[in-house]
Amino acid sequence: MKKIRLGVNIDHVATVRNARGETYPSPLRAALLAEKNGADSVTIHLREDRRHINELDLKKIIHKLKIPLNLEIAATKEMLKIASRSKPPFICVVPEKRKEITTEGGLNLDHNKNFLSELIRKLKKRKSRISLFIEPSLNDLEKAKKLGADCVEIHTGKLCNLINNKKDYKNEIKKIQKAVRKGGQLGLEVHAGHGLTYSSAKILSKIKGIQEFNIGHFLIGESIFEGMPVTIRKFKKILKL
Ligand code: PXP
Repeated sequence: MKKIRLGVNIDHVATVRNARGETYPSPLRAALLAEKNGADSVTIHLREDRRHINELDLKKIIHKLKIPLNLEIAATKEMLKIASRSKPPFICVVPEKRKEITTEGGLNLDHNKNFLSELIRKLKKRKSRISLFIEPSLNDLEKAKKLGADCVEIHTGKLCNLINNKKDYKNEIKKIQKAVRKGGQLGLEVHAGHGLTYSSAKILSKIKGIQEFNIGHFLIGESIFEGMPVTIRKFKKILKL
């Protein structure tokens, strides 16, 4: 069986830096610390408005990191150009709305379909592994396969919200379970991410077939209190990595 991986998203180290327009804390330092403490990959989201990570961060991190960098991008011409130039080993295509606080849902795979498939084809040629961030929808899994993606990342935001608010999450977890199974049948690698905490990671760790978890906001928040090494270790233990 393939090893399950933990991707550490360090965007919010840059959020803290940018809140003061300062040069610290350093996202590069966070990326290297995550690597040293057992992360399997580091995720950064280069947003159109550069609200956290910027291109200089991308350059520095990709140059120094030995584990794979997972670059999250919107499906735009600008991002296609940047990703083609920097050739990160992993790419995850995400939807982006300027005014959202965070990535609110999965991609609409019917929107801009031709450009999306061109982007996937071009970036795969450059040897990047391409993942699409989607809702746990069986239709979207089939569409992702048709578009030529290598992987899908299931948006776990809704599930995490229900768990955090102590609401019934049975239906949502069933949807995710079905989506993971379908992904396996289609030969897609299935990942999960968004809003994950220790409790939601524990619940999701019981679903067999999720190959990668990408975790950021909660992990960086907990690192304020316990440090990144301890927080990563706790997540790895919960996910049984
Ligand atoms: N995966 C994807 C595709 C994302 O867009 C994000 C948020 O940027 C995450 C995982 C991490 O989400 P969080 O920061 O809520 O853990």
